Amino acid sequence: MSLVFVETIPYNSISSLLRKVAYGLATTCVLGTAVYIGYSVASPDNHSSKRYRNPELNDEIEKVVSSLKLNDEQLKHIMHCLEEEMNAGLSSETHKQATIKMFPSFVRHIPDGTERGQVLALDLGGTNFRVLSIKLRGNSHIELTSKIFLVPQSAMIGDGKRLFRHLVECLAEFMKKEHLLQSGICYPLGFTFSFPCKQESLASARLTTWTKGFSCADVINEDVVKLLQDAIDEKGINVKCAALVNDTVGTLMACAYKEPATSIGLILGTGTNACYIEDLDKVGTWNGDHDEPKQVIINMEWGAFGDNGCLNHIRTKYDEEVDLSSINPGQQTFEKMISGMYMGEIVRLIILDLLQRELLFLGHRDTYGDYKTPIYNRGGFYTKFVSTVETDEGIKFSNTRRVLEDIGIRNPTFDDCVIVQHICRQVSKRAARLAGAGLAVLINRMGKPTVTIGVDGSLYRYHPRFKRNMERSMEGLVNKDFKFKFALSDDGSGKGAALVACVAAHNAPELLTKHTREIIDDKTSEANSD
Ligand code: BGC
Repeated sequence: MSLVFVETIPYNSISSLLRKVAYGLATTCVLGTAVYIGYSVASPDNHSSKRYRNPELNDEIEKVVSSLKLNDEQLKHIMHCLEEEMNAGLSSETHKQATIKMFPSFVRHIPDGTERGQVLALDLGGTNFRVLSIKLRGNSHIELTSKIFLVPQSAMIGDGKRLFRHLVECLAEFMKKEHLLQSGICYPLGFTFSFPCKQESLASARLTTWTKGFSCADVINEDVVKLLQDAIDEKGINVKCAALVNDTVGTLMACAYKEPATSIGLILGTGTNACYIEDLDKVGTWNGDHDEPKQVIINMEWGAFGDNGCLNHIRTKYDEEVDLSSINPGQQTFEKMISGMYMGEIVRLIILDLLQRELLFLGHRDTYGDYKTPIYNRGGFYTKFVSTVETDEGIKFSNTRRVLEDIGIRNPTFDDCVIVQHICRQVSKRAARLAGAGLAVLINRMGKPTVTIGVDGSLYRYHPRFKRNMERSMEGLVNKDFKFKFALSDDGSGKGAALVACVAAHNAPELLTKHTREIIDDKTSEANSD
């Protein structure tokens, strides 16, 4: 055999083959080592990932990053403060001064999936605004058509009447397209209005303050349902607003329609807030009846937690800067440390600080000192960039590089990318841990063996680690006897408002016209014709 081998493969070929094999092996070794080193350097948990060329600079960076870290002890202290603030908001004696308002939503019945009827909904809570037509078919089945409209910046900060007229114009356009105008039917409407409102009944709620960049004139202290209904009547369309709900309440209701164990509603998006089911006995501000069910959903407005200074010890100079340059300084302290409206800006301020102190993007300072590039400008680092940067695994940092180019940093180095990713991870992790601590207070307080948390919002949906970090923090904070899980709600806030409006229309028929009663009546609704 060997002879045959020698004969059939000439010496030259063998040596060239060996050379190729040796070359291949060497290349593999070199690349393998490079990849290994790269991975070790880029690994988030590896301390060397934070090493920068100059160890002193590295310590400076580490100091900044450490100021964002919160251990379990700190979180437990925050939980204790939050619960005290919640009790202050619920008590009639302290409610006025309390920062967390704990507004009773007047929603007391949790849906069981059997609700039927056709309802309209408006969902306003950010720069987008949705109009929905919803058919509740019973058996937890919902059919939905919807359209998204933009709320122009001018309408967000202009005259209040103009805002409500704009909403109704969009509603009328949608109804026309869906052939709902002049159909001889007056449709009940659920209004999801995601701003702090002191509710006086299901269909009357006074705005206490604007958040999330809105500041329309002549709306604070006004009944928002009335402002909407006035605009509807002025337009002469066949709609009656039957209920107003916060987006957290809408989310809880929509999830409960599918999963009755849902007892918390959570929003992690442009803003943040939570609601939960509270015993009536614990709600000192409740003026309604004490009939069964002896419970009411409380819209916490937890975004205002810390407005009395109780979170100052964990705030950084970047948080203070974000607050000072916002439209509502001194307000929504917790929200400003967690939500999507502010996360990108916190990261930008940290990066800019490190850049100006020549700790990051070495050599770039002069080139980009023209103050025109996004890194120098408020809002220049979008929160979606935080998610994009954090999706990078390994050593290539292709997403991070793209983001950095977008904000005006050409040819960032490997070290630059490692540090920027590290900053994004710490800022979003702090937010997730704070939200987790808030939820742990609610779960421990309700004392139910199992709780489903209905959740919605862009941070929860699109950030690659938010949910995991939040869950991890909760594992250390929730009493071991209680189990919890998250249920993502699709179109939750709009659907939930429709559910509340549907139940309101059933329970308070005097609110509605004969036609409305007909449409929600099982015998005449389309639902029954199935
Ligand atoms: C508002 C809440 C809302 C939350 C999430 C906050 O800014 O005050 O009412 O639920 O944003 O949209």
